[in-house]
Amino acid sequence: MTEIIQHEPPYTVGYFVGSLAKASINRTLSKALIAVAPDELQFREIPIGDLALYSYDYDADYPPEGRALKQAIADVDAVLFITPEYNRSVPGALKNAIDWASRPWGTNSFAGKPSGVIGGSIGAIGTAVAQQSLKGMMAFCNSPMFNSVEAYIHMREGLFTPDGEVTDEGTREFLRIYMEQYSLFVRRVLTVVPQR
Ligand code: FNR
Repeated sequence: MTEIIQHEPPYTVGYFVGSLAKASINRTLSKALIAVAPDELQFREIPIGDLALYSYDYDADYPPEGRALKQAIADVDAVLFITPEYNRSVPGALKNAIDWASRPWGTNSFAGKPSGVIGGSIGAIGTAVAQQSLKGMMAFCNSPMFNSVEAYIHMREGLFTPDGEVTDEGTREFLRIYMEQYSLFVRRVLTVVPQR
């Protein structure tokens, strides 16, 4: 019989901000999410800004930035993507980081690692198309994906302060529910999937 090992909280979440912009509204969103998340989640950012553009030429001798990225993912229980939508997909910097983490072949860092996605946009559909694209990538990378609650945040003027304080009670409550359900999802994955 397969042994079931329950991984008790707290859980460490590595989060990716998909934007490299200094004034990123998704970085603001990340602060808001951390502020309303349940205590059983602990957060650390996994940076993506120093990665060269990936090519499989690097596979034979992965550079320090690529190794650091893979180690950062190995060191967390789950990942969370907080991403804008650029031209109806994920920003190139985030796609590049996913490519780095998925290789060299046979060492895909996302395999079995629970993931979630949320994003904010100045447009009304709030990153819905980019998130669908990212979900396809994560499915291919064999990452169990948090699919419900879906969260497409329309970042209208004044909804957040730059520090990530939400000015609207309904939005704050929605973000709280998103993080609560994400946390339960992570717990389910880490409970029923045997960890080796
Ligand atoms: C955008 N933006 C955008 N918004 C959207 O809802 N759908 C889209 O496809 C795009 N495409 C797009 C392409 C590029 C290259 C840029 C720079 C922007 C607008 C986008 O929502 C806005 O710039 C946000 O501020 C991006 O989030 P960050 O980078 O500030 O976190």
